Amino acid sequence: MTRGNRAEWDCTMLFYAILFSDCIHSLNPVVWSNVDKLRLFRNEEFAHIAQGHLSDAEFQNAISKVENAFLALGLSTVKIQDKRKKQFRKKRREYMRQQRNFGKKRKKERNTLEERLNSNVSSFCILPPKPSHDVTNRDADVCEIIQKLKELKKSAGLSYLFISGNPGSCQSQMASLVAKRCFDAVKESTSTASFVMTLNAENSKTLLESYATFARHLKCPEYAVTNTFTSKDLSTDEKIRRLKTLISTKIELYSSWLLIVDNVTSMSHLDGNLPDSGNGQWAKGQLLITTQDTASISPSG
Ligand SMILES: Nc1ncnc2c1ncn2[C@@H]1O[C@H](COP(=O)(O)OP(=O)(O)OP(=O)(O)O)[C@@H](O)[C@H]1O
Ligand SMILES: [Mg+2]
Repeated sequence: MTRGNRAEWDCTMLFYAILFSDCIHSLNPVVWSNVDKLRLFRNEEFAHIAQGHLSDAEFQNAISKVENAFLALGLSTVKIQDKRKKQFRKKRREYMRQQRNFGKKRKKERNTLEERLNSNVSSFCILPPKPSHDVTNRDADVCEIIQKLKELKKSAGLSYLFISGNPGSCQSQMASLVAKRCFDAVKESTSTASFVMTLNAENSKTLLESYATFARHLKCPEYAVTNTFTSKDLSTDEKIRRLKTLISTKIELYSSWLLIVDNVTSMSHLDGNLPDSGNGQWAKGQLLITTQDTASISPSG
């Protein structure tokens, strides 16, 4: 300072000269306080901070302090605003890049999950129990029922077909022959997974057991199936409803399926215990219901 070459002065010297030397007399208090603010900013938030990094909020706060001091000193803030804009653009680029990466990651995760779910989908065919003797194939009747099923499939959503008759009039075996032939036909024509499942609707206990078996074939989480099935707090109807909900999450993975609801004694007892025709998740399948309860078969079935 005594040598007088101001080109060699650093910030410390400059601040000292303006603020503390007795060369400048009667310095305007506004100028003094704002130069001092810049000095403090330079020391505390810039030159002497421990880590060379400011968070976004810290950066905005710091740049505002400098900008305010410059404004109060009547200096141009163009370069400061440029910095602010540059920083904003940089942050926006970073944000967009993060969003893109996040999107890619989510897509990858979704694909892996889908692959895992799909690889876990396998065909199965559970038919009503066979008699101990040979069974005739009843070709003409089977073809007729399959034709009806095909016609019903043309309409959107879940369709129902009833096989009804007196006790012992071969309804279950007929459903079995039909279902087996449908299953084989799908297996031959496509490589996608399909299934035939039989629910024994003789009473609510057999129905619940069948739903649990059904859920296991669909690879629903075992703990959820067992917890529901063995729960002491839930009624049988509630258990069936919960299993149905579990099943509905898996059933969409099958492009075609047939569910035999076998040995129904009374349709009214089944209220709420069958898939709902309005539920989109069950839309790709068909129901084949065998019943002695001819009276309550709905005409739309
Ligand atoms: N296609 C067939 N070939 C040979 N025997 C058959 C055939 N279908 C049915 N039966 C005989 O009839 C018996 C009764 O058949 P099935 O169990 O299909 O009747 P159902 O109408 O379902 O009876 P339920 O009303 O009791 O449920 C079978 O156990 C079997 O002995
Ligand atoms: Mg039967």
